[in-house]
Amino acid sequence: MNSTNCVLIGFMGSGKSTIAKALHQINHALVLDSDSIIESNEGLSIKEIFSLYGEKYFRDLECKFCQFIAHNVQNAIISTGGGMPLFCDVQSMGKVFFLHLEFEKILSRFNAEERNQRPLFQNDDSALELYNTRLKHYQSCAHYVINADQSIQAITQEILEKL
Ligand code: S3P
Repeated sequence: MNSTNCVLIGFMGSGKSTIAKALHQINHALVLDSDSIIESNEGLSIKEIFSLYGEKYFRDLECKFCQFIAHNVQNAIISTGGGMPLFCDVQSMGKVFFLHLEFEKILSRFNAEERNQRPLFQNDDSALELYNTRLKHYQSCAHYVINADQSIQAITQEILEKL
């Protein structure tokens, strides 16, 4: 990997965190997961941040994370929250890989616990609507669109070839 960061974007459940970990196993680059860092900085879960302070507050934290990475971090794997590309300049952080997965596949990967952790995935119809409105945006801010309906190994290999 050259000095740029590898930035993973995509809808909830598209496999960003899993692929970030798999990339780390191969190239040992630092993984920075925006949701985890925000949760640990705030001392609250994403769900609690949304319910206590609202979505706008969370999006501001995401954009601060994004600006920090853009100015201070190189050679890292950045795993983003599913909404970040709609609100922040993800390209400023590095090379952007959109993990594209059909909504039906996402649904089949989600259990009750995963839904429960995600304030914007409370029911399938509203999540599908969100998915449809976001798709074009993900595509337009990605340097590369990766078919996420492949083995973890195939996905990581494709990303590493493009980095
Ligand atoms: C969100 C996705 C979540 C998390 C928050 C909002 C979104 O991250 O940032 O619940 O707007 O799509 P994951 O994509 O890791 O689930």
